[in-house]
Amino acid sequence: MTRILAIETSCDETAAAVVEDGRRVVSHVVASQIEIHARYGGVFPEVASRQHVLAIVPVAEQALQEAHLTAAEVDAIAVTRGPGLPGSLAVGINFAKGLALASARPLLGINHLEGHIYGAWLYEGEEAPPPPAFPLLALLVSGGHTELVFMEDHLRYRRLGSTRDDAAGEAFDKVARLLGLGYPGGPAIQKAAENGDPAAFAFTRPWLKNTWDFSFSGLKTAVLRAVREIQAAGKPLPVAHLAASFQAAVADVLVGKALKAAAAFEARSIVVAGGVSANRLLRERITAEAPVPVHIPPLRYCTDNAAMIAAAGYRRFAAGQRDGLDFDLMPRWAIDLVGESMSQLVG
Ligand code: KG4
Ligand code: ZN
Repeated sequence: MTRILAIETSCDETAAAVVEDGRRVVSHVVASQIEIHARYGGVFPEVASRQHVLAIVPVAEQALQEAHLTAAEVDAIAVTRGPGLPGSLAVGINFAKGLALASARPLLGINHLEGHIYGAWLYEGEEAPPPPAFPLLALLVSGGHTELVFMEDHLRYRRLGSTRDDAAGEAFDKVARLLGLGYPGGPAIQKAAENGDPAAFAFTRPWLKNTWDFSFSGLKTAVLRAVREIQAAGKPLPVAHLAASFQAAVADVLVGKALKAAAAFEARSIVVAGGVSANRLLRERITAEAPVPVHIPPLRYCTDNAAMIAAAGYRRFAAGQRDGLDFDLMPRWAIDLVGESMSQLVG
């Protein structure tokens, strides 16, 4: 059995976890800074890195304690190397380097997006559910990324398309701000949409023909235009209807394109990952409409966490990756370029 301890500090969650064989979560701790950043209406980078400095040691200690292990007893330490906020990444990476040195454990730098995808392999308890089958199509939807990724096998990524402007989660966050809902926007829109009619506003479905790319800024502008018209007429904002109509438009495009790509590339399964995969409408629709099994992590492993980094770390550890103690952080790091870190492969 292989146990990986992982550390994740790429954005505003300080997280640590222990995972067995890339799948079974033994412990999982997340210290969220959401309440602190909500005051600013978004993540304040310098505040984020200082919160990581405060939280990283207790969070990692708790993850090890709950797993009844010391750092010297895990097989390797994995840490998010990028993409993410530089100041936030640096805290986790330096902590992980120190811990790897002190406990004489191998260290692996992991791509955060690869981590989100491997979140789909995680489970808790004794019974392992069937893993996603290859080849697979991954729809990666987070605050910073919206990508369609084709995987022929483990650790092999072909990026089919990505967003040309706003990421899906970013669109949720911006529209939430427009509607006077809080941060983070995704959960706030989902909640507001519960009492709304998704057909109340016929917002544009930005499809972009003959490409696997996405675009969400036009949809955001369409919502803005509707809001301005209603306000100019002196009427109260139908927030629930606007939220429901926006959410339906995003789900239509994400589900439609993911299913089309899955069919075109003859995928045997679909993985949906990243913070936006917590969205109930998206989960329900893609699960109901896909002709192949759909794997979506449990809610707590959709948004940022360290268990998913441990899951990806396990695959890389098994493939022989060892990164040493002198690697830099990667604030921008496309998932299809992740193999370049394999230059430090051993044997
Ligand atoms: O993966 P994540 O936690 O952090 C990044 O790596 O970006 O994703 C955060 C994003 C935010 O934009 C947030 O609004 C969105 O995920 N999100 C949701 C939901 N929960 C989180 N979007 C739609 N519906 C949700 N329920
Ligand atoms: Zn993320």
